[in-house]
Amino acid sequence: MAERRVFPKGFLWGAATASYQVEGGDPTSDWWVWEHQANRIVGGHTSGQGSGWWGAAAEDDLRRAAALGLSLIRVSVEWGRLEPAPGQWDEDAFRRYLKLLETARELGLTVSLTINHFTLPLWAAKRGGWRSRSLIRCFESLARRCAERLGGSVTYWTTLNEPGVLAQAAYLGTRWPPGDRSLRSYQRALTHLLEAHVAGYQAVKSVLPDAQVGLVLAMPMYRPASAALRDRMAAQGHDWIFNGSLLYALKSGWVLPPISPVIRPIPGLDRAYDWLGLNYYGAYKVAFSVRALGSAFGRHVQIGGVKTATSDWGEPDPTGMVEQLRRLAQLGVPLFVTENGIFNDRPGRQTDYLTTHVQALHDAIRGGVDVRGYCWWTLVDNFEWAEGWNTGFGLYALDHRSQARTEREVARRYRGICHSNALPE
Ligand code: BGC
Repeated sequence: MAERRVFPKGFLWGAATASYQVEGGDPTSDWWVWEHQANRIVGGHTSGQGSGWWGAAAEDDLRRAAALGLSLIRVSVEWGRLEPAPGQWDEDAFRRYLKLLETARELGLTVSLTINHFTLPLWAAKRGGWRSRSLIRCFESLARRCAERLGGSVTYWTTLNEPGVLAQAAYLGTRWPPGDRSLRSYQRALTHLLEAHVAGYQAVKSVLPDAQVGLVLAMPMYRPASAALRDRMAAQGHDWIFNGSLLYALKSGWVLPPISPVIRPIPGLDRAYDWLGLNYYGAYKVAFSVRALGSAFGRHVQIGGVKTATSDWGEPDPTGMVEQLRRLAQLGVPLFVTENGIFNDRPGRQTDYLTTHVQALHDAIRGGVDVRGYCWWTLVDNFEWAEGWNTGFGLYALDHRSQARTEREVARRYRGICHSNALPE
């Protein structure tokens, strides 16, 4: 008989969202301009009215989350709405977010707030985005303002979401704005993001000394396509580029290639996290290829993965999540799974994915990893960046036109987990 896996008392069950993806109608953002350009988003989609979160739908969805039995909600704020011009703060926008956060708290949801989830104000994009050093101080002011204005409603703070993904997709690649396709831009942006994280961490702590401030990293698993040495080396290379170099930077406070062309310290980085978040979706199988010069001599060859014509989240691999949690645990702070999920590409897939990953999470905790909470990505279907509205990751399906929500099977499974704080047999 299958074992009933019970989680530690007080374990937080949540869902993660990101402001730009759910709010809709945000012309203050670099993404707004980008998504309205030709050939940027699959099918020419635009974020439109989003999932209605700049309006009352946000509070309705929070009520859905609470009714489902969730105890944690991960949300973020739009920098451009809060600071539409450099140094000009929009108090109405702060009030809007405050209302949302207070509603969450009144519903018994612990709030995890990400100060910046990828998007930039247009004025910041015009300065060169994260290529520009000046953004570090700007982000520091934003973090301080958020701590001053929203501090009372937030339990867990995240400075930045997935700096490595952002630097790759927007500065090394062409899928996200500004789409630079430049190694130099990637290195500048990623180094600045890490420096901004330290500045943001310190800014929040200067206002709220007891705040729990962390950073959220995406850490896909890279597995060799075969036991051959060349494939193992290619997989290790990819892991270093994407995961290892960031973990090393957080542990030591030094950035190495490829993050920086020269080895140099980022003062304070090794002390700038009270907790860490893992965003985990799947595993890539890496095969050595002499022709793959632009992708560090490795090609992704996994089959049965979760992908669309233009994006690839890898193959579901719950064991990989345990392995990545163990690696993160070496940094010595409590952990959260801040995102984990799959889109609804065929019946039953999300539900199986949730079950197997919650099982793996239990294995990690039982093995001694200090994980305090888990967030499914995402609560309600949202605007999936360059994928537009094509991938429904939500516990609730959204009809984007009518804004009607429909509970998915995965939500029913999740309700059982949240209510029993266990994975039912
Ligand atoms: C990001 C989300 C995104 C999700 C699914 C994560 O990397 O933080 O914004 O929607 O992956 O692709």
